[in-house]
Amino acid sequence: MPDYAELHYMGKVYKLPVIEGSEGEKAIDISRLRQESGLITLDVGYGNTGSCCSDITFMNGENGILRYRGIPVDQLAEYGTFKETAFLLIHGRLPTWEEYRQFSVLLNDHSLVHEDMRSFYQHYPKGSHPMGILSAMVNALKSFYPVLENIDEEINITLTRLLAKIRTMAAMSYKISRGHRVVYPRPDLTYCENFLNMMFDSPVRPYRIDPDVVQALRVFWILHADHEQNCSTSAVRIVGSGRVNLYAAISAGIAALWGPLHGGANQAVVEMLTDIHANGHTIPQIIQRAKDKNDPYRLMGFGHRVYKTYDPRAKIMKKMCDTLLQKKTTQDPLLDIAKELEAAALEDNYFIEHNLYPNVDFYSGIVLRAIGIPTNMFTVMFAIGRLPGWIAQWLESMNDPNWKLCRPRQIYTGPVETDYIPFDDR
Ligand code: CMC
Repeated sequence: MPDYAELHYMGKVYKLPVIEGSEGEKAIDISRLRQESGLITLDVGYGNTGSCCSDITFMNGENGILRYRGIPVDQLAEYGTFKETAFLLIHGRLPTWEEYRQFSVLLNDHSLVHEDMRSFYQHYPKGSHPMGILSAMVNALKSFYPVLENIDEEINITLTRLLAKIRTMAAMSYKISRGHRVVYPRPDLTYCENFLNMMFDSPVRPYRIDPDVVQALRVFWILHADHEQNCSTSAVRIVGSGRVNLYAAISAGIAALWGPLHGGANQAVVEMLTDIHANGHTIPQIIQRAKDKNDPYRLMGFGHRVYKTYDPRAKIMKKMCDTLLQKKTTQDPLLDIAKELEAAALEDNYFIEHNLYPNVDFYSGIVLRAIGIPTNMFTVMFAIGRLPGWIAQWLESMNDPNWKLCRPRQIYTGPVETDYIPFDDR
């Protein structure tokens, strides 16, 4: 029997089809609603609105589930590589050994960036945020590399080029911002090792690759690789729907990720913990501020639009913090503060009633600090991790015969028609 919902309005009944996803999630399909009834729906922030059907990532916020192409993210974090995860997201299945080898060769072949791009970095004002630079550089790739034609092979090269170059560009921006010599990618290193080496190797202190640090970075990137229709991914899809090139769509995603309510939260968490540490605020004071409706202060790294329980990524990240700091035998006072803050919040009625739990960003900043990443590069690290997801979502939308230009409507609440008044009469 066909499933549908009924809308009763002004004496008429509208039958709206109900569609069901492979995990049993249901949606009312309103694609003919305006045409048939003259009504639109209003859903500020899209909390109740599905923007597409997608085969890529499944998340269930009530039960804390996250799977890429059906595979639980904790299994990928335990056994997979970041490159394998990227292939899985983009191509829809795990690569065979031969495909993996070829993908690695291509990533290596495309890892250099055009030497002229260095002058871009050098002319950026000192102190510019690396996210702004990265967004601009990714957009600029279009001018340095051939235009993307809609041919499978060329699309493949373009997306591989982007995956390969983003870590080179990120490391390059860091080196140039410090006035240091740029370190080039090496063919003998893995994706994660190469990035660390380009960031930290120096002529006076050669970088010694630590497997624990590589492992932490691998897990960090896998956990960030996709998260279905979040703010930045929606930006990539919406901007892409105007049929701009892939670089421009990804550049828009990077800009969207920058915000402190989204990817910028990892930087905001560390700044919050540093402020607590430096200024001797007590945990009850912080909890009180976060609950105070007259104070815009929020507990950064807490709460999520979809997860109404512990974010599964945060659990893995917290474990990673402990392991990394134990192995490195270094102390980070921010980890103790974070744990104390989490324990206090999880026992507090406000946080319990609002279903506010730590999200991925609550502990990820501490992992990045332990790796040696400077605070203003944290969100860039998130962007590198999220790139495979953005690409997969962009590809899916471009290959979807039903994908249209994204153009929401609105309910206008401004003045009704008003005559123009000449200057002298105002
Ligand atoms: N601290 C204190 N109160 C909070 C917090 C928080 N971190 N988050 C939500 N609330 C309260 C909020 O004040 C509101 O209370 P009330 O209903 O009494 O007015 C209620 O919870 C719902 O908040 P909302 O802003 O309407 O909920 P949302 O689903 O739009 O917010 C969020 C999601 C992530 C923007 C929000 O939880 C937040 O600002 N968190 C801090 C920033 C952060 O950690 N962002 C990273 C998200 S995970 C990384 C990613 O995937 O992008």
